[in-house]
Amino acid sequence: MICNNLSINEQGHLCFAGIDTTLLAEKYGTPLYLMDENRIRERCRTYITAMKEAFGDKAAPLYASKAASFKQIYRIMKEEGMGIDVVSAGEIYTAVSIGFPLEHAYFHSNNKTDEDIDFAMEHGIGYFVVDNEEELKAIDRIAARRSIRQNILLRLTPGIDPHTYEEVATGKVDSKFGSAIETGQAKSITAFSLSLSNINLKGFHCHVGSQVFDSDVFLQSADIMLGFIKEMKDSLGLHTEILDLGGGYGVRYLDSDPMIDIAENIRTVGAHIHKKCADLGIALPTIHMEPGRSIVADAGLTLYTVGTIKKIPGYKNYVSIDGGMADNPRYALYKSSYTVLLANRATEDEETFTCSLVGRCCESGDIIQENITLPANTKRGDLVAVLTTGAYNYSMASNYNRLTRPPVVMLKDGTDFIAVKRESLADLCANDL
Ligand code: LLP
Repeated sequence: MICNNLSINEQGHLCFAGIDTTLLAEKYGTPLYLMDENRIRERCRTYITAMKEAFGDKAAPLYASKAASFKQIYRIMKEEGMGIDVVSAGEIYTAVSIGFPLEHAYFHSNNKTDEDIDFAMEHGIGYFVVDNEEELKAIDRIAARRSIRQNILLRLTPGIDPHTYEEVATGKVDSKFGSAIETGQAKSITAFSLSLSNINLKGFHCHVGSQVFDSDVFLQSADIMLGFIKEMKDSLGLHTEILDLGGGYGVRYLDSDPMIDIAENIRTVGAHIHKKCADLGIALPTIHMEPGRSIVADAGLTLYTVGTIKKIPGYKNYVSIDGGMADNPRYALYKSSYTVLLANRATEDEETFTCSLVGRCCESGDIIQENITLPANTKRGDLVAVLTTGAYNYSMASNYNRLTRPPVVMLKDGTDFIAVKRESLADLCANDL
């Protein structure tokens, strides 16, 4: 099995976090998002422990909540002592609604509106991660109106290719995010920040990409950022308190994907940064990282019921399910890989057939995965499990074709409970006048 929270019981049913998935499908219906809460907590602890060991007590992981954002996730983050990365008033609102301490929140995005800025300040956001000069001016202006001095980090682009898919590569000089070090814009926005009386520049941020397996990428970006910190010390006399290295560690969607040992990687980055700081003669800043996918991805699994099976002799076979691109748009957007199993006959080792797993939306691009193998006798009513869907599935789901979004059911210590209710047809019309 691709992940150790999966197993198969005597009846040949797939179990997730120790619970028979066929019973969960019966109880809650499909499509159904399942989340293994213990796994999420375990990943948080791995990051917290490894980061404190590698970088000292003040170091902290900030969960990138764009990967999965709903109240229960923020409760878990609060209880585990994680900080959070938020990107919208909606994520802030959700976190605040369960009493998440917003001083541990970092507000990202490349285009925060005045309303977003005001909303975040109203709720006492800890830090803005400032993308550009225009935004910096707006934050200064709104902070002045509120008579506060706002803590910020500046988002910089170190100019690194993270060797991942284009849509999630963000550290290159031509990225829409941040100020480039190479062009001199990073230096000028740093100097400008220091001139603003309602801004308190605490440090710098970079995020080079997502689903990254090449650990060198993190060492290279740390080198460039620390070099920049040294340059700012020498030229502007700036003492940098915080360096946020972003998120991005890759996860396994297929058996053939590499396995990343997060703790080991953090130790390597830690040793590297300690040495680099000593070489440059700068103090070690407080280090943050912003994992999203690697916290929640393999804590998630989606269950669907098989409907139509269509075989086109000499061409192609389709297995249609009762969900699709509305609850998981990642294949449609990025051609993302997934492992797919029949959950009610997971041990089947008889004949298989090759097919595409497709959704129920009215467009041909509504594909969950192509060229997968399922038992040849797969039939209407069978239960399909798509693995590793905890990140960027629920959070990217839509109501396309007026489909209702599936519920999120949490699994914890052998129990199951609803974290997000299934949308009803009435919910779909709730805002229609
Ligand atoms: N920090 C920043 C500033 C980010 O932009 C991101 C992800 C993260 C942290 C978290 O990265 P992670 O650890 O999750 O790789 N929708 C895409 C992923 C977009 C990632 C955007 N930024 C997908 O489904 O693959």
